[in-house]
Amino acid sequence: MPVIGSINLTSEDDMLFNINGHTHDIETLDVRVSLLDLLRDHLSLHGTKKGCDQGACGACTVLVDGQRINACLALAVQYQGREVTTIEGLGGADNLHPLQAAFVAHDGLQCGYCTPGQICSAVAVAAEIRRGLPSYITVDLSETEQDLTSEELRERMSGNLCRCGAHNGIVAAVQDAYGQGAI
Ligand code: FES
Ligand code: FES
Repeated sequence: MPVIGSINLTSEDDMLFNINGHTHDIETLDVRVSLLDLLRDHLSLHGTKKGCDQGACGACTVLVDGQRINACLALAVQYQGREVTTIEGLGGADNLHPLQAAFVAHDGLQCGYCTPGQICSAVAVAAEIRRGLPSYITVDLSETEQDLTSEELRERMSGNLCRCGAHNGIVAAVQDAYGQGAI
């Protein structure tokens, strides 16, 4: 059990996490473990990717109670009892989420490393738009629901980088799924 000075860094109580609708009971966990490392290293949910590990690339984006966060910047211990959704919770090879299908249809990926984060982020963006939350470039703040224009989408997803340059396909896929009411 790691101890620094008088500070015990390992939880003595089980931690309960709700990931993709399943409860995970973790017996011992260093309280410094990030949500990203919990997912990948302790629960073998490797869909969520580690890019920069410092909040700059968006590869680790997951949903917590429907809102997007960077899992690399989040301490797992703080997310007990919250509803965490990863790409595995949205869909898989045998049951593609409509947005995953749209990414395939619109060539919204090349290497695919950024794709889980892009998809989780876009699902949250759609909810933000429907709730009327403005972005930095929204002109009319009285609108209760903004149009999901290419400019709005690029601004709202500017925290999700794609080193392959698949952004045009990503924008087309998200607009298509949003237009169909699939997200
Ligand atoms: S890995 Fe979290 S933002 Fe890059
Ligand atoms: S598809 Fe390769 S980084 Fe985005």
